[in-house]
Amino acid sequence: SEDKLKEVISHAKAYGYVFPSSEIYDGLSATYDYGQLGVELKNNIKQYWWKAMVQMNEEIVGLDAAIFMHPKTWEASGHTEAFNDPMIDNKDSKKRYRADVLVEEHIEKYRDKIAKDVKKGRKRFGDDFDEVQFLATNPNVKRNQAKIDELEAQLESIFKNDDLPALKDMIDDLGIACPVSGSKNWTEVRQFNLMFSTELGSVAGDASKIYLRPETAQGIFVNFLNVQKTGRLKIPFGIAQIGKAFRNEIVARQFVFRMREFEQMEMQYFVRPGEELKWYEHWKEKRNRWHKALGLGEEFYRDHDHIQLAHYANAASDIEFDFPMGFKELEGIHSRTDFDLKKHEEHSGKKLQFYDPEMKESYVPYVVETSVGLDRMFLAVFSASLKNETLEDGSERVVLSIPPALAPYKVAVMPLTKKDGLPEKAMAIIDDLKYDFTCQYDDKDSIGKRYRRQDAIGTPFHVTVDHQTLEDNTVTIRDRDTMKQERVKITDLDQIIDEKVNM
Ligand code: GAP
Repeated sequence: SEDKLKEVISHAKAYGYVFPSSEIYDGLSATYDYGQLGVELKNNIKQYWWKAMVQMNEEIVGLDAAIFMHPKTWEASGHTEAFNDPMIDNKDSKKRYRADVLVEEHIEKYRDKIAKDVKKGRKRFGDDFDEVQFLATNPNVKRNQAKIDELEAQLESIFKNDDLPALKDMIDDLGIACPVSGSKNWTEVRQFNLMFSTELGSVAGDASKIYLRPETAQGIFVNFLNVQKTGRLKIPFGIAQIGKAFRNEIVARQFVFRMREFEQMEMQYFVRPGEELKWYEHWKEKRNRWHKALGLGEEFYRDHDHIQLAHYANAASDIEFDFPMGFKELEGIHSRTDFDLKKHEEHSGKKLQFYDPEMKESYVPYVVETSVGLDRMFLAVFSASLKNETLEDGSERVVLSIPPALAPYKVAVMPLTKKDGLPEKAMAIIDDLKYDFTCQYDDKDSIGKRYRRQDAIGTPFHVTVDHQTLEDNTVTIRDRDTMKQERVKITDLDQIIDEKVNM
């Protein structure tokens, strides 16, 4: 819900996870900075991904390509020509909107009407309510459903034919008003390219226009033979990369879900033509397992197979996550055929073929891609972990139950009081543990408040040094999730923590 999203944003800011970018200048829209805890969580997510992709698969290797690429790259990939959103401006409010989103929001109103009717029906008929029967026979529902079908068919045909004037007609015919001013005074619909551009070269007049990459994938495609040859790789093999991408998003709301500068974790898997759908299924399954292994709860995930495919794909599916705004795309798995490599062959004049020693022939490999947004992973982990709990004694606590492997600090070490050598002892424990784990020292406020603070930032273990520690070298260790405390030997800490944080 919107409230949940607000809660997430304010918690992220209050505890140093995410700040609005350049906040002292009132921020820059759809741009965010990761704070002292955010950068740790983000790095841990990267590591968790890199390990699963590169370290655990001997046929997958890494790459770190430049953000700037030769302008011909984007002609070949189709981004200069086709990476567009249809935009419309309201002449009175001067606000710009995605034209198709305006129509879709309009269609959504009919869906809401149906949902309301169903709710009424259920209230009226109670246990006897037959939803399927109701949907098929209720005249109001039937009328609204017919309207939805009609508008969706119209929208589909507009997309197929790239018919922008028809999209504008649709907005006029439906009487869609500007959400801000209520005005229906619209401009024409125009295509708006999502790529950011800048100029290369310092000599005036000599500059040429280049783009900030809108996806990391193209860096992998253009390096495909460099990596294959120098790595002596045989098909199937993969190239993985984590890096920034930039898109001039128009509808840029929803916190780090949709940003203008974001990070992608992508892997391109090069396979024999004809085997791509087998590998597509393989990666779809494997990526689902990777997500679910985090333990946030299986109910947070669902697959969304695409029926309408992009021109370069012959199969595509999203792994959707139940974000505070509802189910939305977290990762895309695409069977991209040989589209990209073939286009790069055409535009560069270079052969991008692999000689298959088993088949004794050369061919342009097919590609299966997995592409997950790092910032969306961050939001998924953060929002699913943020909980308000009512405890047995009726008190409440806010806990960020981040999977221990991803938690920014693995352990907090705290002296019970600030005297009698307890702080020194706590520091000495940290000096031992810090080689293996990120540690935080905390001696401010009461111990209860300190536990709550560590709960709120997601630290899985809280070690307290007290007077008994000085006598027998034992400490208490508190578990963030169960809040149970145990007395253990200092020398056992490493192993106890390690068992939970290394997955
Ligand atoms: N190479 C394929 C590709 O870029 P995409 O579906 O456009 O496909 C892949 O993007 C992933 O990148 C998405 O699933 C999403 O997680 C992330 N992503 C895309 N646009 C984003 C944005 N504006 N802000 C944050 N993440 C974004």
